[in-house]
Amino acid sequence: MSATTTTTAADLLAQAAQVAADAIVGEDVDGVVMAWNDAASRLYGLAARDAVGSSAEPLLRPDGESSAPAAARARALTGTRVDAFDSWHARADGSRVPVSTSVAPLRRPDGSVCGTATSAIDISGRLRLDADLQDARRALEQQNAVLVRSNRDLEQFAYVASHDLSEPLRVITGFITQIERRYGGSFDERGERYLRHIVEGAARMRALIDDLLEYSRFLRADHTRTEVPLREVVDAALGRLSAAVQDTGAEVEVGELPVVLGDRAQLQSMVQNLLSNALKFTAPGEVPRLRVSGDVAGASGVLHVDDAGIGIEPEFRDRVFRMFQRLHVREDYSGTGIGLAVVQQVVELHDGSITVEDSPLGGARFRVALPLATTGGGPRGDDR
Ligand SMILES: Nc1ncnc2c1ncn2[C@@H]1O[C@H](COP(=O)(O)OP(=O)(O)OP(=O)(O)O)[C@@H](O)[C@H]1O
Ligand SMILES: [Mg+2]
Repeated sequence: MSATTTTTAADLLAQAAQVAADAIVGEDVDGVVMAWNDAASRLYGLAARDAVGSSAEPLLRPDGESSAPAAARARALTGTRVDAFDSWHARADGSRVPVSTSVAPLRRPDGSVCGTATSAIDISGRLRLDADLQDARRALEQQNAVLVRSNRDLEQFAYVASHDLSEPLRVITGFITQIERRYGGSFDERGERYLRHIVEGAARMRALIDDLLEYSRFLRADHTRTEVPLREVVDAALGRLSAAVQDTGAEVEVGELPVVLGDRAQLQSMVQNLLSNALKFTAPGEVPRLRVSGDVAGASGVLHVDDAGIGIEPEFRDRVFRMFQRLHVREDYSGTGIGLAVVQQVVELHDGSITVEDSPLGGARFRVALPLATTGGGPRGDDR
């Protein structure tokens, strides 16, 4: 009864081996095949009737490949099983196939080793995938390197251009000063006017170059990311703008602001540019009114800078972020047009976004979304 049961279990197992995805090959101690499942027929291209009774050596341990399969079989014959190692097997037609293999001892009822069982699975698909992944990673790395290089070239260009422009400008300014000093009194009214235009032009050129230099220096600086309460940044920026606030009698309201993840110095520069614009672009005779408020949208901390000033027409809202682009003549509003280029650069370095809208106060609203700090990122109360 029990003998019948044992035989049935072994028989069932042998049948089960036929449906296994792994090729399973049983060999005796001399390397003669005793068992060969369907998957083995498919993998090696050899039917069971041709395999059983002959040597599997040329297929499982082919010449010219690594000695790992032979070593694994030798170990299995001493009673130790070797699991999942990669190697090459051969097919009946001589071609090679990469496989993941395990080799285990086969034992008689008394425990003595009578052969080995080898299971093998074709891993060419996995290797192809690995190769594809590696190709994709290499392509990404190359693209990244190109981007980094072109960014660096751009910074280098801005720096060199502005730096090298400074020297001839110094010469011009120097000689204008000489002309003014020596011949100042001898010009007629028209001559005086021309001279004034030259002086103003040179001063303006100086301002543009200085801004360009600062911009490129800014791009080249190291960026660190810490948790930055926007409230602190806004307070610091307002401190620096206190003269303009006092001179204009501006009304400034600051609400609850989130804590974001970013570079404090850059965020400071961004906020200062936005606030200085909100103070500056007010109709003549009007007192500037500003409101700074915050919000949380998903994983973003949002900053609103609202003003009651002259506003920005929808068709110009993209243009204002370009370097040296201004919507007004210098006589009406001073500036070089680099402030919002810096703002946009900061926003991009922080993977954030910025938009311009109509403000409920009547002027422009700049809306900046930045990554929220992970801890305590919610709006900070207005406690002053
Ligand atoms: N709050 C605002 N309201 C109305 N117009 C604005 C506002 N902010 C910016 N602008 C327009 O966008 C232009 C570009 O702004 P940006 O800050 O880059 O330059 P700027 O303020 O003129 O000069 P800079 O900031 O370099 O001193 C401004 O010249 C102005 O025409
Ligand atoms: Mg500005």
